[in-house]
This record gives sequence, C-alpha cells and structure tokens, in this order.
Amino acid sequence: MSTDPSPSRQNNSVSTSRRRFLATTSALAAVPYFSWQTRGLTQETRSKNDRFNIGIIGAGGMAGGNMNAAKDWVDIVAIADVDANRGAKFNANLAGGKADVYEDYRHILERDDVDVIHIATPDHWHTKPLVEAMLAGKDVYCEKPLTLTIDEGKLIRRIQKQTGRIVQVGTQQRSTFNLFVKAMAMVAEGRLGRIHRVSAAIGGAPTSPPIPEAEVPAHLNWDRWLGPTPQVPYRYLNNGKRGYTNCHYEFRWWYEYSGGKLTDWGAHHVDIATWALQLNGQTEGPLGIRGSAEHPVEFKDGMPVQNDRYNTATKFLFTVDFPGGTEMIIRHDTDNGVLIEGDKGRIFVNRGKLVGAPVDALQDDPLPEDALSRVYKGLPMEYNERKAHWACFLNCVKSRQEPISDVHSHMNMLNTCHLAGIAARLGRDLKWDAAKEEIVGDEQANAMLSRPYRAGYEIEGV
Ligand SMILES: NC(=O)c1ccc[n+]([C@@H]2O[C@H](COP(=O)([O-])OP(=O)(O)OC[C@H]3O[C@@H](n4cnc5c(N)ncnc54)[C@H](O)[C@@H]3O)[C@@H](O)[C@H]2O)c1
Repeated sequence: MSTDPSPSRQNNSVSTSRRRFLATTSALAAVPYFSWQTRGLTQETRSKNDRFNIGIIGAGGMAGGNMNAAKDWVDIVAIADVDANRGAKFNANLAGGKADVYEDYRHILERDDVDVIHIATPDHWHTKPLVEAMLAGKDVYCEKPLTLTIDEGKLIRRIQKQTGRIVQVGTQQRSTFNLFVKAMAMVAEGRLGRIHRVSAAIGGAPTSPPIPEAEVPAHLNWDRWLGPTPQVPYRYLNNGKRGYTNCHYEFRWWYEYSGGKLTDWGAHHVDIATWALQLNGQTEGPLGIRGSAEHPVEFKDGMPVQNDRYNTATKFLFTVDFPGGTEMIIRHDTDNGVLIEGDKGRIFVNRGKLVGAPVDALQDDPLPEDALSRVYKGLPMEYNERKAHWACFLNCVKSRQEPISDVHSHMNMLNTCHLAGIAARLGRDLKWDAAKEEIVGDEQANAMLSRPYRAGYEIEGV
C-alpha cells in the first residue's frame, strides 16, 4: 500500500506566457559578466509577465540562498516541505506569504501555472522529484549532488534526453567567472600545458557522539523525510555545544542520505578538476580508483555497524587513474580548493583566490577576449557565482540551450565521487569500465551502484 498518495496527473505543458523574460538577453551570448548593468539582465524585470513562477521543493537553508539569488526574476507561487514549520517560514520570509504550501511536492508538479521548479531537498530526495518533474514537463534547477548512486544518474540522463527538459545542477562554481571559469579558460588556452595531475581538497566530515532516539517534532512528517530510504528512528541531541541529528542539515554526515564530503564538496571541486581534464583533452576514463578512508564507525560489507552516530568519512586520500597516466587526487585536507598541474606550470583555485605563476603571467600575456565565453559554452555571462548560475538557468529555459551545469557533465564527474564513496566503504581499490559504467570484477562493489527504494516511495512514471 502506497504511503505516498499520488495526486491526479494532468498534461503539464509549461505556460509560455511568462517566457518572454530575458528576451533581450539571447543575443548577448558573449557579453562579459561585468557589463550586466547596461546590457544583460535587468536587475528587476519590468513587469509581472516577464517573470517566472517557481515552485520550491525543500524549503531549507539552500533554497533560501537560491531564492535570494534569483529573486529579481522569479515569483515563488508554491512551496513543498515535509516540515510544516519550514514551509510556513519560507512562505512568510521569501514569498510574502502569497505561496501555496504543501507537504507533498507532487501537488506542485501538477500545477500548470508553475513554470520552473527548484529542488533543494536532502541528497536522498533529489532523483525522485527531479525525474518526476521532468516527466511532468518542468524545467528544474536541482541542488547538487544529483544522486546517491551511479545508477540514479543513468536514469536522470535517460529521462532528460527523453523529455528535453532544461536542468541546471546547483554547482555554482561553474558560473564563478573571475575564479573557476577563468582557471578553466587558462587550461583551455594551454597556459598550463599538458595537465598531468589535478587535486581536489574537500575537507572531512565531523564526528558525533551517540545520538539518542527522540520524539519526532509535531510539524515534521518523518516518514516522508526518510522517503525512499529505510525506516529508522528520528534522532536528536543537543549537548550544549551544538545539535546533532539524522535530519535537517546534518543528513550530510550519514551515508544513508548523502555521500559525506566526497559528494557534498566533491560535487564542487571534483567537478572543476574533471572539467579541467576534459578541456585538456582527457575525455576518457577514469580507469579506477586507489586509496583509503577513515570512518567514525566500523564498516562491514560497505555498511556502518553502528547506526546511532555520523558515519561518513572523516579522512580520505584517493588517486583516480586516467588513460595516459593522468591522475586526480581527492583528499580531505583543509586547503579547500583545486590544484591543477601541467607541464608548463600549476594554478590553485578556490572560492577566494586564483593563484600561480601562470596567473601572474597573464599580466604580460592576457587571455583572448572570448576565452571565458568559450569555456562557458557561449552562454550569456552575467553577474557572478550563484546569481549568474540562476541567470544561466533561466536564460536556458528561454533559449532551450543546455546550461553550464547540465546533468550529463554532472553525472560524468559524480561517478568519480560515488566510486570514491564505494571504495571508502568497502576499503579496497576499484577498477572502472567507464564505457559500461560498471566496476570491473567486483560483484559486491557493483551491487552498490544502485540502492533499493522503500515501498511507497518508488520513482513514478519510469
Ligand atoms: N550549491 C551549494 O553550494 C550548496 C550549499 C548547501 C547545500 N546544498 C545542497 O542543497 C540541498 C539542501 O541542503 P540544505 O542545507 O538546505 O538542507 P536542509 O536540511 O536545511 O533543507 C532541506 C529541506 O528539504 C526538506 N525536505 C526533505 N524531504 C522533502 C520532501 N520529500 N519534499 C519536500 N521537502 C523535503 C526538509 O524538511 C528541509 O526543510 C542539499 O542537497 C545540499 O547538498 C548546496
């Protein structure tokens, strides 16, 4: 018996009346990001009809940050959260109390007046609403990492191809023009020569004390929060220093709901590292992964033995091998950022700086004017970072171009993060067949390419 009653489905073709938004921007593909004030998106779109109606699925911290970034162009008309307090607060603070608030996100998917969807649920709740939203005819900005497993990624790519929906993944570093995009342009222009190593330092996860079972808050539908994952008790502890839980925000430190830092930050920095390799001509692989990880609990057969405390990796060091001897290092160290090493020099880039001798050399030998635009696939380049990432998404919704963080490039690199997670949990090296998207000669590891969905929370329509 389904615990997830399905609202009736209607043909959900997206209204076109609101798509006039950004009409002025389609001809501005190569406008540099710093000239937005005069030529690109207007700070405030002019009339109600220029704006997009957006539905929010998961009204937590990240959705709030994203709506602040996109507020000049969207009106929040519907919000879904399994925590009624969060839905109500989001409505009051970000939608002026005007949105409809639901517990079940499928009510949003069946509304014809919702143009675009934003998914900012915890990671275990990305694939199902994303696939169902695409099938309902919606374009989606979905937070990273798109999946908990490699097989979920195969499904998302298939449905995206089948439906042709526009999906932007929330990896906003790809729209940070003065840092990451500039670094990618330097790689593409050969300023580092042949890249032989990229290193992503992404930090380790925190530990927790044992977290006791606790009464589920009256405003939280815990069964729906768990959704496709196994039914377990709600846990909460405040030891006077901080709160610990297996729910809001802290879900990141449980493999049941996340990949820990390997996907939480891996989705950002492994993405940049992979992008650099691809721009340098390394389009095949990886071939496998070597290394090890430390966890705060004992693991048996890839599963944590203790179930009452955080279990994701606190320390790790992995080497991902690519054809031709190129390596990607993924490590927990605190020098958060990406080091790109080539035979002509090396650069380091993170959210605060882009440094290295090849950067200094730009003073005498600057990049060609269109270098950034070319790595940004010729898409309009306005604003910077998260706001730019939203502008990119909404521009693409209008133009039907593939956005800069498309599901295909995202899953390509997320496969590496997931492989690291499987290697970490099993405690052994893995060989990877990138063409077949299978682990070679390891049945137990291959079984971890997918996860079972709890009855009542299966993905609908596939
Ligand atoms: N791009 C970035 O830099 C960045 C930064 C932070 C977080 N994120 C991502 O954003 C996502 C959300 O993170 P967060 O920190 O906001 O988490 P959060 O726990 O604060 O918020 C998630 C919200 O989703 C709700 N939710 C859970 N299941 C739901 C369901 N089935 N339907 C509707 N609502 C549901 C929860 O009740 C909660 O309010 C994560 O995937 C995270 O990786 C991205």
